[in-house]
Amino acid sequence: MTQLTPILSKFWDAEQSWSLATYEQHDGYRAMDKAFAMEPAAVISAVKDSALRGRGGAGFPTGMKWSFMSPPDGDARYLVVNADESEPGTCKDIPLMMANPHVLLEGVAISSYAIGCKKAFIYLRGEVVHVYRRLLRAVEEAYAAGHLGENIHGTGIDVDIVVHAGAGAYICGEETALLDSLEGRRGQPRSKPPFPGAAGLYARPTSVNNVESIASVPGIILEGVDWFKGMGTEKSAGFGIFSLSGHVKNPGQYEAPLGITLRELLDMAGGMRDPNKKLKFWTPGGSSTPLFTAEHLDVPLDFESVGAAGSMLGTRALQIFDETVCVVRAVDRWIEFYKHESCGKCTPCREGTWWLAQILHRLEHGQGTEADLDKLLDISDNILGRSFCALGDGATSPVTSSIQHFRDEYLAHLEHGGCPFDPQAAVLWATDKESVSA
Ligand SMILES: Cc1cc2nc3c(=O)[nH]c(=O)nc-3n(C[C@H](O)[C@H](O)[C@H](O)COP(=O)(O)O)c2cc1C
Ligand code: SF4
Repeated sequence: MTQLTPILSKFWDAEQSWSLATYEQHDGYRAMDKAFAMEPAAVISAVKDSALRGRGGAGFPTGMKWSFMSPPDGDARYLVVNADESEPGTCKDIPLMMANPHVLLEGVAISSYAIGCKKAFIYLRGEVVHVYRRLLRAVEEAYAAGHLGENIHGTGIDVDIVVHAGAGAYICGEETALLDSLEGRRGQPRSKPPFPGAAGLYARPTSVNNVESIASVPGIILEGVDWFKGMGTEKSAGFGIFSLSGHVKNPGQYEAPLGITLRELLDMAGGMRDPNKKLKFWTPGGSSTPLFTAEHLDVPLDFESVGAAGSMLGTRALQIFDETVCVVRAVDRWIEFYKHESCGKCTPCREGTWWLAQILHRLEHGQGTEADLDKLLDISDNILGRSFCALGDGATSPVTSSIQHFRDEYLAHLEHGGCPFDPQAAVLWATDKESVSA
């Protein structure tokens, strides 16, 4: 049985876990001293050797991303922490920043030093004002204690942190849209190349990294590469925060080695919320990752195994749905989200998400025909791989995977003339139509 590995979440239940005093009682800011005594290149090598892969969804190796940046030329270079966290179901960075903001700040200081950056930004999702306040307070505390600013710990190293609150748009989590937004423009993805490592914020070399990726750096430096690689699998090393939500007895954050299974996590979380109801479907990494079913309970939750089973590890947002949930309705709701959040820059996503939403809506209400299922697949095919950024691709995941696993349930809506899970739905839909035509 795989055990939990509370590392980032180790003292979340301590009194005032977010304060500098609590962080310092738990080795806080010691990794920074160790890192500052190393050459920047050695810090990058350590992170590379640890095989840490980005925790923001795509799983790109963090140390490699840093080493791909254009070499220093004496001018500005930036670290930008992606704290936008807006993927439906994803809720790990916000609790992490609420419970232990200093581990992120220490990670920012070390990572900035490694890549030669003196000014780092944390781009936070704007709606979470409580997290914004907490981060601002933590930054203030760290400056006052000499952990940030000029000549940190008397080493001659300078790192400033700016916490920036975005306006709350899902697309601003896409790293280049984030950079445009941070520069004060409308947040839309940029053409790549150039990649941010060559020309990012203000056209200078920039590394954009997820909160959890950067927060994992102090542990790697303090405890060592072997410690980190001792957890997880060979290609998906280390630990991660798994967020369980939905029909589970004890929803929340479970920090565990990569490669743990949903069956194990569900056991730790007390099982299904109603033990008499079966697991029907779940997302391994948020709504942009293809749905899994009860058949996938034993798939190891690491990048390779989840990919081989037909989905993606994404952000480890495990949304659990029991047999009482209508999958067509759930997908319809997700597609409404993508339609709303599509930035409109490219046609396949801008138009396609609207068409998907219209068709799903009529299917959910028992209207349309079986041919609509092929239309959904055809539209998805025209979005996937043809969109400007991964938002469009992600929007197709719930549609195609739900048709793959639950085609019969879509057909049942047509046979029933409404949602078979809700006897009222057909009646309501009929009333709706009457009021529209009147
Ligand atoms: C629509 C969209 C939203 C995204 N939202 C986030 C987000 O909220 N946080 C995040 O870290 N990455 C997000 N990403 C991924 C980022 O573009 C980028 O890959 C990530 O910040 C890199 O960090 P990492 O290498 O540490 O994983 C998003 C991508 C897309 C396409
Ligand atoms: S895929 Fe969607 S969100 Fe991405 S650029 Fe195109 S329209 Fe914008």
